[in-house]
Amino acid sequence: MSTSRDRLRIAVQKTGRLGESSRQLLERCGLKFRSSRDKLFCFGENMPVDLLLVRDDDIPGLLADGVCDLGVVGRNVLGESALGFDQRAPFQELRALGFGGCRLSIAVPQEQQGSDASDLAGKRIATSYPNLLANWLREQKIEAQIVTLSGSVEIAPKLGSADLICDLVSSGATLIANQLRETQVIMSSEAVLAGCWPAPQNERGELIELLLRRLDGVLEVRESRLLMLKAPRTALSIIVGLLPGGPSPTVTTIEGRPDDIALQCVCSGNVSWQDLEAMKLAGAHGMLVLPVEKMLA
Ligand code: PRP
Ligand code: ZN
Repeated sequence: MSTSRDRLRIAVQKTGRLGESSRQLLERCGLKFRSSRDKLFCFGENMPVDLLLVRDDDIPGLLADGVCDLGVVGRNVLGESALGFDQRAPFQELRALGFGGCRLSIAVPQEQQGSDASDLAGKRIATSYPNLLANWLREQKIEAQIVTLSGSVEIAPKLGSADLICDLVSSGATLIANQLRETQVIMSSEAVLAGCWPAPQNERGELIELLLRRLDGVLEVRESRLLMLKAPRTALSIIVGLLPGGPSPTVTTIEGRPDDIALQCVCSGNVSWQDLEAMKLAGAHGMLVLPVEKMLA
């Protein structure tokens, strides 16, 4: 199935936390899709790349079966599925995407005492992530009983089907609403771009490489600012020392003003007011900080 197809397929979450941001990120990589939010399939209009809108939990399986080449999914979902394979999983994390941050945590009823891992021994822990939990318990050398539930994990202690839970926490609102207290983080997660392993060695493989290069540019510019300023030539070394990080600046002369220079630099983080004020004290003027829209190394 995967070999007879010449268009690339990317699986993204249809609804939920990651769906909208996933699509936006792909659009920033220059992909245009015929809008069909209510359907399973979105046709790529300007490149041979289509979207499949699915449940996040189905994404690792779609990669494993070769139905999709790439997927945007939580690291937690990918990791849970990967642990279900005896051998190396047929997919891998390609890039962390910097959104959809959350953590997989142990949480106990608020009135329950104790926060140590050792307090879990012999307890029943409800979770939708039995593989990740089992792995963590093994590492911690704790023997506990895992109660696997596909949803509504947070009400298991109230229903009496478990003593505590291991579930995703993002804002923490679900825990509070269910009178639960987070005790241990067992995994930090965020949205990742996942791809098949091994990667296809054909036109689709080349297309993936192209998208990864664009994605790296998009991820890099998200944090980058273009800083421009003018300064006396004598202040250059001090000002360069004050730049908030990034590749070497470009320094140019200003026509008719031999004592001044113009400096331009892509800063890899935000440029703060304090940074600007320090440079002004050193003699810089005419400072401009601009967001970066696209970058290609
Ligand atoms: C997770 C988790 C909690 C909730 C926590 O479910 O199971 O219910 O999010 O978020 P909060 O800390 O912001 O309240 P999710 O929305 O990922 O749904 P799913 O497990 O069905 O994919
Ligand atoms: Zn889900």
